[in-house]
Amino acid sequence: MTATPATAVLATADDLRARIRRAAQPKGRQPDETALAEVAAVLGPVPAGGYARDLLIEQLHRLNDAVGALREPHLVALAKLLNRPMAEVAEVASFYHHFAIVPAGAAVPELVVRVCDGLSCSLAGAQDLLARLPALLGRAVKLEPAPCIGRCEQAPAVAVHQQVVVHATPAAVAAKAAEGRAACSAQPPQAGGAFEPAALAQRAVTRGDEGPPTYTPLATYRAGGGYALPAGLAAGRIDPETVLQALEHAGLRGLGGAGFPAGRKWRIVRGQPGPRWLAVNIDEGEPGTFKDRTWLERDPHRFLEGVLVAAQVVGCDDVVLYLRDEYHQARVLLQQELAALAADPPCPLPRIQLRRGAGAYVCGEESAMLESIEGRRGEPRLRPPYIAQVGLFGRPTLAHNLETLYWVRDIVARGPQWFAGFGRHGRTGLRAYSVSGRVREPGVKLAPAGITVRELVAEYCGGMADGHQLYAYLPGGASGGILPASLADVPLDFDTLQPHGCFIGSAAVVVLSQHDRARDAALNVMRFLAHESCGQCTPCRVGTDKAARLMEAPRWDTATLGDLATVMADASICGLGQAAPNPIRCVTTHFPHEI
Ligand code: SF4
Ligand code: FES
Repeated sequence: MTATPATAVLATADDLRARIRRAAQPKGRQPDETALAEVAAVLGPVPAGGYARDLLIEQLHRLNDAVGALREPHLVALAKLLNRPMAEVAEVASFYHHFAIVPAGAAVPELVVRVCDGLSCSLAGAQDLLARLPALLGRAVKLEPAPCIGRCEQAPAVAVHQQVVVHATPAAVAAKAAEGRAACSAQPPQAGGAFEPAALAQRAVTRGDEGPPTYTPLATYRAGGGYALPAGLAAGRIDPETVLQALEHAGLRGLGGAGFPAGRKWRIVRGQPGPRWLAVNIDEGEPGTFKDRTWLERDPHRFLEGVLVAAQVVGCDDVVLYLRDEYHQARVLLQQELAALAADPPCPLPRIQLRRGAGAYVCGEESAMLESIEGRRGEPRLRPPYIAQVGLFGRPTLAHNLETLYWVRDIVARGPQWFAGFGRHGRTGLRAYSVSGRVREPGVKLAPAGITVRELVAEYCGGMADGHQLYAYLPGGASGGILPASLADVPLDFDTLQPHGCFIGSAAVVVLSQHDRARDAALNVMRFLAHESCGQCTPCRVGTDKAARLMEAPRWDTATLGDLATVMADASICGLGQAAPNPIRCVTTHFPHEI
């Protein structure tokens, strides 16, 4: 063995001292004082233990609204104030499409204009808008394509920051953008390099100054007998069992897409040990779906009454409403009406939080929504355990779509036979179909469950648009598949479309005509699914992307696409990847002449 020289021992001692000094320094990138002060100016005083970690997405929204983007020094400062690693905060921020991260000192766009290039808007001319707008908007405005923004019945739709331009023309978008820029320059994001939180807060308000929708306010709703049900439950005049049986006899199923029987779900969660949570999904990201926004903007208390009933019957002390970020008007309305309800409650209220989504379609999956509410990336959880047992913050959780709760009052008050009495072709119940595409009168159509698309278009939509004949239709948004006109007499309901490789999901019906091609629609939705894949599992992350590229070819490589479809369907964790093969298989089966 060689003896260690004395110089080496001394060098090691120096090295040790240096290491001790380094260890005394905090690890990672440190926030500067200015950034810390700027973040606190927007988010408010820092509590003793730091900001609440589960509110990360809300905090990112407030910074993004105030500054127009997420600046890196602010993310470093926020991580410090949350006691979370910077990498974790950056990972969450980069997951959601509505957050733009910019380096320190980089320019922030004055305004962001998002042109929906979802299927219905593409049919109505979104690509033309994307081609013509750059010349009209100028460089200070960031123009980008965006997935469906929930206004498909008024296509093409464009979001100018938080204001929506419907039936958009280049001139109308340019005018709205000019208004937005004028408001922004009146309240600049940074004056002389200084950070001015008051001005920035004002800027966030002036950017989203849409007029309120017409809706039934609290006083009118109560005058019509509203909230008698939760008041009766709280006073012991109505038995929870009566409510559960009404839901079961009505046959009410989850109307967000999965279709699980609502009454059974309530019983399962009710049977779990408390405390329990109620999480309501109003993220409504399925392209072609806009029913939840419609109900919310017309009759918010009918939905909120369903929330109070569910909370009482199931025994939930806490409620989270997870609202789509694009629904700015609905958010303002809901904030107002929740405040009105709290000021004059019909019964003891649960704690209700309103949270903003941030532009991630996958958060429509219930466990991904819970991850998002807890302040993380919206990645679906592996099951079991099911969220009814281990859900939000580890507690049993009842997760519902808005529309499911919207029907609770009427089903109990009018009796389950009222709801079950509707229906056609052997199906029962009512459905709100979101209809868009080549019809004369698109919109939300409240129609009997089991109606066919031929009947729906003829009886509820004023027929096909002028010059268009039915060629094909998507019965359930992006993931529900595509069917030809020859199958226009299949009842539209849960369980009726599976034999044809489709499903109804949230009943988003997009109608195509002889001027369209099913392969173009399939490519549009596959690109959407590739864009929205959370990336957690390889078959979905790689499969959707590769499938979209293969579907661009004039002649499809059906063997490779078939292999991809099998792997995605069999090995994906959640419904996004499992349903991604539907457009491929439908075009291959029903439209072989196109490929
Ligand atoms: S299937 Fe897709 S969206 Fe779902 S968990 Fe896997 S990668 Fe994420
Ligand atoms: S708003 Fe454009 S497709 Fe829905």
